[in-house]
Amino acid sequence: MTSPDDPVTSPAVRRVAIVGTGVIGASWAAHFLAHGLDVIATDPAPGSEDRLRADIRSHWPVLEQLGLADGASPDRLTFTDDPAAAVADADYVQENGPEREDVKRALFAVLDASARPDVVLASSSSGLLPSAIARGCPEHPERVVVGHPFNPPHLIPLVEVVPGEVTSEAAMDTAMAFYRAVGKRPIQLRQELPGHIGNRLQAALFREAYSLVERGVASVADIDTAISCGPGLRWAVLGPFVNLHLSGGPGGLAHVLEHLGPPMTAWWADLGHPELTPELARALVAGVDEELADVDPADLVAQRDEVLNTLLAAKSRTTLP
Ligand SMILES: NC(=O)c1ccc[n+]([C@@H]2O[C@H](COP(=O)([O-])OP(=O)(O)OC[C@H]3O[C@@H](n4cnc5c(N)ncnc54)[C@H](O)[C@@H]3O)[C@@H](O)[C@H]2O)c1
Repeated sequence: MTSPDDPVTSPAVRRVAIVGTGVIGASWAAHFLAHGLDVIATDPAPGSEDRLRADIRSHWPVLEQLGLADGASPDRLTFTDDPAAAVADADYVQENGPEREDVKRALFAVLDASARPDVVLASSSSGLLPSAIARGCPEHPERVVVGHPFNPPHLIPLVEVVPGEVTSEAAMDTAMAFYRAVGKRPIQLRQELPGHIGNRLQAALFREAYSLVERGVASVADIDTAISCGPGLRWAVLGPFVNLHLSGGPGGLAHVLEHLGPPMTAWWADLGHPELTPELARALVAGVDEELADVDPADLVAQRDEVLNTLLAAKSRTTLP
């Protein structure tokens, strides 16, 4: 990172530009509106303004339950199909376009040329390196960060804030302060790497889950149950290290590592290295289709959001995040 005397400062954010209004952009837009901010959104796809307004309407009831900021309203959304115009008056930019380095780089060139130099350009990218994205920004690459949310960003608190090689400390501080101010739980990575942290952890789990299906060890539904009714329940309450620490009783983590560390690390040798072939992809999709055969998709999303909401309210009363 470069030194703190860069042009990016910490202006009060009143207006956020949402660039790309698909699944993640729409959820971010709803979240920022619920926090009383003005949102200006842009997306080149035909019909995207209508879709965005419909998505925000569908997210609004759960945001109302969580509590709206004073003055919060979906009417504070404006839309333009010109990305340069969208960011020209923005105090913070959250980009949510396609997960392709070439597309992001070209898009960031436009954002960099049009946004004020003190404005952070944050990408929601699930795994691209901010340095690669910032190569599209000849003017002010030091204000480019990854601000990676988890779906749906209007409910899940975590945002991974990732610096590139030339990102300034000021840009990182501004991004961290902004996400905190809108109720998120940002963590700051010390270095960039593909997939950041959360998605690398998920990738490790998915690699083994795909392998278990490939090896015919269990059905897709049973593997889902193994997480959602097993360790996943406690992972939502406490992180993996603290959970492991609690598994050690009075001896804590030190005891677990001594007692269970050697057998657990011995399993590493047996973990799979599956290839995501079309055949395996078909087996995974068929497994989920079977698991959800009697489930209404809209009900499933509503139930997920309701349980998440209850869980978030309960977690807000606990000591650890
Ligand atoms: N879906 C997830 O679970 C998830 C979670 C966290 C982060 N992300 C990241 O968020 C970003 C968006 O993902 P998504 O799932 O919302 O994708 P999506 O396909 O739902 O939305 C992408 C949107 O970008 C628009 N778009 C295409 N070209 C554009 C351009 N030049 N400028 C602006 N917009 C453009 C598309 O019209 C579309 O509306 C990606 O970088 C992805 O890695 C996704």
